Amino acid sequence: MIKLIDILDETNKKLRTISKEIKFPLTKEDKDTVNDMIEYLTNSQIEEYARKYNLRPGMGLSAVQLGILKRYFVIVHEQEDRSFNNYIVFNPKIISHSEELIFAGSGEGCLSVNREIEGIVPRYARITIEYQDEKGEKQILRAREELAIAVQHEIDHLNGILFVDKIDPNNPYKNEEKMRMI
Ligand code: NI
Repeated sequence: MIKLIDILDETNKKLRTISKEIKFPLTKEDKDTVNDMIEYLTNSQIEEYARKYNLRPGMGLSAVQLGILKRYFVIVHEQEDRSFNNYIVFNPKIISHSEELIFAGSGEGCLSVNREIEGIVPRYARITIEYQDEKGEKQILRAREELAIAVQHEIDHLNGILFVDKIDPNNPYKNEEKMRMI
């Protein structure tokens, strides 16, 4: 049996709140939440489980989406060999990024946005962040392409921003020609 988690919908005001820095050592609640998020995201990307438990597929979740206003997120990134890389990121800060912009050709998705969205979101093709790991140790993550989009999407969550906020409804493909589609 897998543990089901309640993910807030975009209509919940908490999702528009700026989350606070998390302090170390982590509480048991936060450790449990990280494990629940990893479990959900992993299972949701395995077709058999996604179907069996009716899970919407997702590669990232921020604590705020579970109603916890602390600055951390988890990304479970499927590799070409179908294994998963887990990124557990606390208190992230973007320290540099590319000039080049990209966007997800199939559109961005979010487990808190339960409707069809048309349009594109500009994201940096490459970014470097500094963050703390589960022990509070400083780490560096360099991300590109799909992973870079996911990291920027999750950092936005920590600042109360959803990807839909970045799409102009009157011009949902604005500046498309200035970006590379991935
Ligand atoms: Ni999201």
